Amino acid sequence: MKPIRVGLLGLGTVGTGVVRIVEGHQQDLLSQTGAAIEIAKILVQDKSKARNISVSADVLTENPWDVIENPEIDIVVEVMGGIDLAKKYMLEALDRGKHIVTANKDLMALHGQEILAKAAEKGCDVFYEASVAGGIPIIRTLVEGFSSDRITKIMGIVNGTTNYILSKMSQEGAAYDDVLKEAQQLGYAESDPTSDVEGFDAARKMTILGTLGFHANVSLSDVTVKGISQVTKEDITYGKRLGYEVKLLGIAERNDEHISISVQPTMVKTSHPLASVNGVYNAVYVYGEAVGETMFYGPGAGEMPTATSIVADLVAVVRNLKLGINGQRGFAPYKEKKLKTDEQ
Ligand code: NAP
Ligand code: HSE
Repeated sequence: MKPIRVGLLGLGTVGTGVVRIVEGHQQDLLSQTGAAIEIAKILVQDKSKARNISVSADVLTENPWDVIENPEIDIVVEVMGGIDLAKKYMLEALDRGKHIVTANKDLMALHGQEILAKAAEKGCDVFYEASVAGGIPIIRTLVEGFSSDRITKIMGIVNGTTNYILSKMSQEGAAYDDVLKEAQQLGYAESDPTSDVEGFDAARKMTILGTLGFHANVSLSDVTVKGISQVTKEDITYGKRLGYEVKLLGIAERNDEHISISVQPTMVKTSHPLASVNGVYNAVYVYGEAVGETMFYGPGAGEMPTATSIVADLVAVVRNLKLGINGQRGFAPYKEKKLKTDEQ
């Protein structure tokens, strides 16, 4: 099979990890797909910026069309973030028959339906495993692993930054602002960390999980959201004294034609497994009518965990290319069906 050429939109925390894995795991990727995967072009804002990875100067570009319109590029990996520009670039790339891999939960939660519809029209793949829970393959698990079951509840810690902050406040008595800065330096937080601390990032992830898990069209507006910015050291200390840890929990429940989805700081009994999920780790409980209770655990953010999900998606696209089934066997398409929420 001819080499598969990839264009990256972004070389920040996640993009850097993608380059490291594609370069470092070349032989393993080749043996799994039968094709060499090459990073052909990388869009950045500022080519002159110091980077902690060495990339040949002719690979970097500040012109998005070098990636989107490049006839040599088969797959576009969107890891620049944001909504409007990222959406425009993705739709333009799909129009040109390029497959997409993205980590962008903001975009998929808001415009996933439109993007997947365009991909279906063009016979292209759109994979977005990295958009929820970093290195945990939770989207594949919901779409493929639970295809035989009826999911009634999805509950978990789906934001690494806030879990890092709450864990450090609980275990070390650290100050909220200091730990938030640390999470930013470690590359866990969003470029605007308001999304993390006010629960919007978790809400977007729960929208995606609800949509895929319940085979329904869940909207971001269906999620009630409260973040951790008002959680004090006193709340955490008091909770511990009573045998609880404070965690930012996302809970999505389905009962016949009714769904209820929320994100909020929650007192979790210390004996519950979610109470011991600390640092940047995430965990997702999935309740299936047939299987019962299952739990998936792993690093929820950061360079290499997130990049493993992106590169797994690249492998999926290449396998589909080999079989000639792109646009047919991706993550389940969003459904038109709307379930009732608490307000309706
Ligand atoms: P980041 O470190 O801020 O990197 C963003 C990259 O995109 C940078 O290389 C930047 O260029 C480039 N970029 C941004 N806007 C651009 C524009 N308008 N034109 C050209 N280039 C642009 O972000 P990140 O943490 O890697 O996150 C990327 C995406 O992955 C986001 O959607 C985020 O929500 C998602 N995500 C992140 C994590 C994580 O742990 N960080 C985990 C899961 C998902 P310069 O380098 O020149 O500034
Ligand atoms: N800011 C996000 C988090 C990145 O902390 O979970 C991973 O999606």
